[in-house]
Amino acid sequence: MKLNILCIGDIVGRPGRRALAMRLAGLVKERQIDCVIANAENAAGGSGLTPQIYDKLLKYGVHLITLGDHAFRKKDIIPVLEGNTNIARPANLSVSAAGRDYAIYQTARGVSVAVIPLIGRIFMKPADCPYAKIDSILPRVAQQAEIVIVEMHAEATSEKVAMGYYLDGKVACVFGTHTHIVTADERILQKGTAYITDIGMTGSHDSVLGRKSECVIRAFRTQMPYPFEIATGDVRMSGILVTVNSHTRTAEKIERIQLTLDEADAIEYDNDDGRPDYQNAGFYP
Ligand SMILES: [Fe+2]
Ligand SMILES: [Fe+2]
Repeated sequence: MKLNILCIGDIVGRPGRRALAMRLAGLVKERQIDCVIANAENAAGGSGLTPQIYDKLLKYGVHLITLGDHAFRKKDIIPVLEGNTNIARPANLSVSAAGRDYAIYQTARGVSVAVIPLIGRIFMKPADCPYAKIDSILPRVAQQAEIVIVEMHAEATSEKVAMGYYLDGKVACVFGTHTHIVTADERILQKGTAYITDIGMTGSHDSVLGRKSECVIRAFRTQMPYPFEIATGDVRMSGILVTVNSHTRTAEKIERIQLTLDEADAIEYDNDDGRPDYQNAGFYP
């Protein structure tokens, strides 16, 4: 059986959420998508995820949610991470970290899809070895899901490419996130694994990684922390569409997807979570 799986890059703040609210259902119908995976580490005000926004993303049509280095920025999310199988934080964090190593969803066609998020170790906070971690959990995950997808949340392109080759033939797809900049190297590797270094960002592209450029420039110039306001111009949903054969468990096609939100649609941001749309003061987006 062939399944179409959509992977959506880091959703940043209200504009990113708005893009999903306005465009996801139409895309799922048009492209006959069986499973939607989205990285939501920046979904709440640019950093972290709240239970309210978790619920909203599911309502918009997301099936599996992943998080990265901002996983625990909003502590309210911890019970959600502990109590649901459709959301995961990076698997190679401390074994004592809250939350699950992978998220799993049974599609309407009966085939199960699992996503395992891993986090890089170059220019990032300390983490356990992603290779040792994937080796230890992959046999168990592969028993539970016919289709296994790995997200490599990393700063360095080398770490993402290396993981792609390491897992070639062992999983259906390895895709990168975290840099918020889409790369043009999507391909099917020799043993059938779909690969792309970064699937990009869902949010304002008239920005520095989704935040207002003037805020980020001010933080870089002064070396002082400032709140990063969420930018609102040129809103796009960015990701990949992967076609996977559930019998061979490998990919047949990978395609980059980028949808632009009409300006009129982007103006009416959903504002019912009652929180200001900015990231706490920091040096880096
Ligand atoms: Fe991100
Ligand atoms: Fe990140």
